[in-house]
Amino acid sequence: MSTTILAIESSCDDTSAAVYAHPMVLSNCVANQETHRLYGGVVPEVASREHQKNIIPVVDLALKKAGVDKEQIDAIAFTRGPGLIGSLLVGVSFAKAFALSRNIPMIEVNHMQAHVLAHFAQPPYPTFPFLCLTVSGGHTQIVLVRDHLDMEVIGQSLDDAAGEAFDKTGKIIGLDYPAGPIIDRYAQKGSAIFSFPEPQIAGLNFSFSGLKTSILYFLKKEIKKNAGFIEENLNDICASVQARIVSILMNKLKLAAEQTGIREIAIAGGVSANSGLRKALEQTGNQLGWNTFIPAFEFCTDNAAMIAVAGYYKFLQEEFVGQDIAPLARWQL
Ligand code: KG4
Ligand code: ZN
Repeated sequence: MSTTILAIESSCDDTSAAVYAHPMVLSNCVANQETHRLYGGVVPEVASREHQKNIIPVVDLALKKAGVDKEQIDAIAFTRGPGLIGSLLVGVSFAKAFALSRNIPMIEVNHMQAHVLAHFAQPPYPTFPFLCLTVSGGHTQIVLVRDHLDMEVIGQSLDDAAGEAFDKTGKIIGLDYPAGPIIDRYAQKGSAIFSFPEPQIAGLNFSFSGLKTSILYFLKKEIKKNAGFIEENLNDICASVQARIVSILMNKLKLAAEQTGIREIAIAGGVSANSGLRKALEQTGNQLGWNTFIPAFEFCTDNAAMIAVAGYYKFLQEEFVGQDIAPLARWQL
C-alpha cells in the first residue's frame, strides 16, 4: 500500500479527519458545530471547546471507516492556518501528540492551498497551469496554480469574502447562520428581479461590502412601504442577492482567464457549493471553451480530505515540521 496519511482540519467550526492513501480518499469525516446558529455566527471560544469534544471521536471514525489501524499511518497532516487560533490549536495539539506517540512525521498545511488541492481528491484532475477561484467564508481569491505546491494569488477581496457576503446579507434578511446554503435554496425558487449595483473595482480584486449596504438600504425603503416585503418576496430577494454575488465572481474570473490565456478553470471553497455559481461556471465555460472543474460537494466545504491531499504532496517533498510548530491565524498563500 502507498503512503497512508491521516489529516486533521479544525480552522473554523467544523472538526474533520480524513485518511488518504494516494490516489484514494479512504475516509473523510466531519463533525459540524450546530451550536453557532444560536449566535448568528461562529463564536471562537465555543468553536474551540467543540473541537476538543469532537476531535478524538472524529479521528476514530475516520480510521474505522477507512479500515486502517493507527499503526498503519505514515504521517499526520494538519491545518496550521489561516483560521481561528483557538480552533487551530486543537488540531495542531492533536497532531503533535499523535506524531509523538507514533514517531511519524508531521506536515503543516495552509487551509487555502488545501481548498485548491481539493481538486485532486478524486478525478477528473485539472491540468497545470489552471486558475482556481477559491471562495469561502474567510477568503475570496483567484489563484494561478502552476503545480500542486506552486500557487500565486492574482486577485482577492479587498473587504468581505464571498461567503461573508452571503452570510451577512442573510443576517440582514433575517436568515440563520450560515446563510449561504439557505439563500441558495430560496434562490432556486425565485427570479433575480431586484438589481443591486456591481462594484467598480479595477483589475482582479473584488469588493463585497458595498453590496451589503445597498441591500440594507433597499430593504429598509421597501419595508417602510410594506412591512411584509421580505416574507412576500423572499425567493426573489435571495435570487437577486445570489445573482449579484455570482456575477461579481464570474466577471473577475473571466478577466483573469482573458489576461492569463488559461482555459482550465476551477472553483473551490464553501461557496463553490452554490448552485448559481456552479451553473454560471458551466454556462460561461461552454461559451468560452473552458475546461471547468468543480469538486464534489463534500470536498467544497471545510474537510480534512483536502488537507490530506496537500499533505501527500508535501510528504513527497519531505516538507516536515517539528514539535515547536504553532498555529497561524493569518497565513498568506
Ligand atoms: O470553505 P468553508 O466551508 O469554510 C471557510 O473556510 O470559511 O466556507 C464556508 C462558507 C460560508 O460562508 C457559507 O455560507 C458558504 O461557505 N456556503 C455557501 C453555500 N454553502 C456554503 N454559500 C452559498 N451557497 C451555498 N450553497
Ligand atoms: Zn475553508
